[in-house]
Amino acid sequence: MYDLVIRNGKLVTEKGIVEADLAVLDGCIANIMPRGDDVTAGIGEAKETIDAAGQYVLPGGVDVHTHLDMPLRDNIKSADDFATGTIAAAVGGTTTIVDYACQEPEGSLADALKVWKEKAKGANVDYGMHMSLVRADDATLNEMADMVSQGVTSFKVYLVYGMRLSDEELCRVLDRSAHLGTLVTAHCENYGVISYRTKKLLAAGKTDPKYHPVSRPDRCEGEAVNRVLQLAAMTDMAPVYIVHNTCRESIKCIEEARSMGHPVFAETCPQYLFLDDSLYELPDFEGAKYVMSPPLRSIADQEYLWEALKNGTIKVVATDHCPFPMEQKKIGLHNFSQIPNGGTGIEERIPLMYSEGRKRGLSMTAVSKLVSTNPAKLFGMYPRKGTIRIGSDADLVLYDPDKQVTIRHDILHENVDYTCYEGFVVDGYPTMTILRGQVLAKDGDFTGRSGLGQYIRRDLP
Ligand code: URP
Ligand code: ZN
Ligand code: ZN
Repeated sequence: MYDLVIRNGKLVTEKGIVEADLAVLDGCIANIMPRGDDVTAGIGEAKETIDAAGQYVLPGGVDVHTHLDMPLRDNIKSADDFATGTIAAAVGGTTTIVDYACQEPEGSLADALKVWKEKAKGANVDYGMHMSLVRADDATLNEMADMVSQGVTSFKVYLVYGMRLSDEELCRVLDRSAHLGTLVTAHCENYGVISYRTKKLLAAGKTDPKYHPVSRPDRCEGEAVNRVLQLAAMTDMAPVYIVHNTCRESIKCIEEARSMGHPVFAETCPQYLFLDDSLYELPDFEGAKYVMSPPLRSIADQEYLWEALKNGTIKVVATDHCPFPMEQKKIGLHNFSQIPNGGTGIEERIPLMYSEGRKRGLSMTAVSKLVSTNPAKLFGMYPRKGTIRIGSDADLVLYDPDKQVTIRHDILHENVDYTCYEGFVVDGYPTMTILRGQVLAKDGDFTGRSGLGQYIRRDLP
């Protein structure tokens, strides 16, 4: 007898929409039958049946860029930990996340992974880990192979912030990663430019949030993307994944590298597709909500990103979910460069992307590839995650295309006092989220058993 059968839904598969019924056994998709054929034939009725009439059945969302419980500085941590952040993820239709574990300045990768796995105990969706590197000494490079054997198959490098690596260190990491067959993910902005411009702005008394984007313009991102791709090309074409692309300046470099056969992959995030830099002009320090790096860009950049989603240059929409409450943002009331960087999105991503994606002419399947299938493939979790097919985990989202919802902080589960998408109206919303056959969320509430999330040991991409 099957554990669960979902009848009458429209399955969003990689090959398109299929009117079919789906059966689940032991957490996996055990059978899929076109409507009319009995999915339980010869097996008997299932323990539980869900009627999905009028709804799409989506593969569970895969968010490969989160910062849960991330220490920033002076006792400041990102507001969502693995318990709260994964409740929000589940309600919003995401069933797998890949979070960024961070090496300590003097620490080992093994220590960092241990700390992050401890933080993740009690997670409510499945989770993998990337590893952010703050050093590229021999000890660190030698540990990368151990990480692979523990299911960590991607390594993050920063070209900015305190944990930035020098060009020589970047070469060392890229070289080792190419050798191991792992993926380097890169935060690309030019540190020197930002430092110079920030000092100049502050010296001129320009301290408001609206100067944050002035301090780190699009060329500053494009320069760093170009640099990391050039370095990678010189280190035997190491595969590189550029996180949170915001603008034409960076996408142009990626298009060029891809046209030359370099395995380069691009991510963007809802904030860069839905929000623009006019928000920094809001009065009363409201612009601080949108202080994130790279910053929000122009409407023209937004349009460029949507085109890049359509033409396949950008493969993934993840969130970079890293919110800080307004009280903490106020640390930078008189100095924009001190505002903790980061915004919301873990719960809003799926509804925003399906709603707007459809309006912009992307098929349901095309959106599902951006938010589920492609990230699962690129980060070594496919076909277990990111797709609806027999043998895959039964991570499924029922999505009502006719349910119109106005996104408000009050209806969300993120542990922070605002949403970057307050007042956005979405056409369509998740009505049920299922993780490995177990219902986690229903009609906007978390209804599942806590702590069902499991660590995903990722394969090489
Ligand atoms: O502003 C951001 N993006 N904060 C989170 C950390 C990062 O840079 O990805
Ligand atoms: Zn970043
Ligand atoms: Zn990030």
